Amino acid sequence: MQEKINQYLEEIRDFAAAQSQEVENFRIKYLGRKGILNDLFEEFKTVSAEQKRFVGQELNRLKTELQEKLEQMQQVHTHGSTIEQKSDWSRPTGALPLGTRHPLSIVRNEILEIFSRIGFTVADGPEIEDDWHVFSGLNFPPEHPARDMQDTFFVKPGNDQKEMVLRTHTSSVQVRAMETTKPPIRIVMPGRVYRNEAVSARAHCQFHQIEGLYIDENVSFADMKQTLLYFTQEFFGKAKIRLRPSYFPFTEPSAEMDVYWGLNSETDYRITKGTGWLEIMGCGMVDPAVLAASNIHPEKYSGFAFGMGIERITMLRYQIDDLRMFFENDTRFLKQFKY
Ligand code: PHE
Repeated sequence: MQEKINQYLEEIRDFAAAQSQEVENFRIKYLGRKGILNDLFEEFKTVSAEQKRFVGQELNRLKTELQEKLEQMQQVHTHGSTIEQKSDWSRPTGALPLGTRHPLSIVRNEILEIFSRIGFTVADGPEIEDDWHVFSGLNFPPEHPARDMQDTFFVKPGNDQKEMVLRTHTSSVQVRAMETTKPPIRIVMPGRVYRNEAVSARAHCQFHQIEGLYIDENVSFADMKQTLLYFTQEFFGKAKIRLRPSYFPFTEPSAEMDVYWGLNSETDYRITKGTGWLEIMGCGMVDPAVLAASNIHPEKYSGFAFGMGIERITMLRYQIDDLRMFFENDTRFLKQFKY
């Protein structure tokens, strides 16, 4: 009986099926109700007591190998290829499903690209920041109400550690750049920012900004205006901007830049509140006190800075009216943006 078992073992190891029908025949022949394995188990009953142990082991081995072989063949034949073909790495693959880029990334990349064409490079900094880079280094005096302009999330400090905040604007990266780079500085700084605001269609506790900074000798307000006009024309395809006086602790003078959107449709009336103008970003000439705080000589150098919210611009571009969509990761929304 042992010899028979060995013979079958050899037989099944050599067996190769060309079609799925042969796999089924194999199953019936060996593992079927009236198949070879059952016959052998029947015969096993007649084996002498002292041989039972050994022959039993052999028989079980045959059973396991049969089942493994069958399983393997079934897998190969339902997938329509053989193991050898599967390990041929030179075979062409099927089409890989491609994801889509997030609309905020599409818009961010486009803005960075527009500024790169006029010599701006990209810089970034941490989202968890210290007070100096978010506030004090930007001329926010301690306890000054200007800090209330931005509802800050504070991070509980560990033992002996200074208090940290989630940055409320990307202007913190300006300070990092000024501390570590000698002018001329010409950078754009994209990133996520946080403010303690109730989540709604128009506001969120997290959003994205792009900051710009240009510092050199003789940089003027006119340079800023021309740079922002260039950006507006490239990005929005709109020809007209205006600068309204505003206030930020770190720029002087400060302004709010509006783009003339026009009043050509009902939507234009709605989003511009009937004025035709849309507010796009904050900007201004870097305050000499801010330059000095980062050890840049305020008499030798001057510069301008600007900052804009990416969500707002993306909503305008794609006519999205609920900010929360950006953070819900609903693929029905996301897959509409191919790039
Ligand atoms: N940091 C300002 C804000 O978040 C925007 C800004 C950036 C204004 C740079 C002026 C210069 O509102």
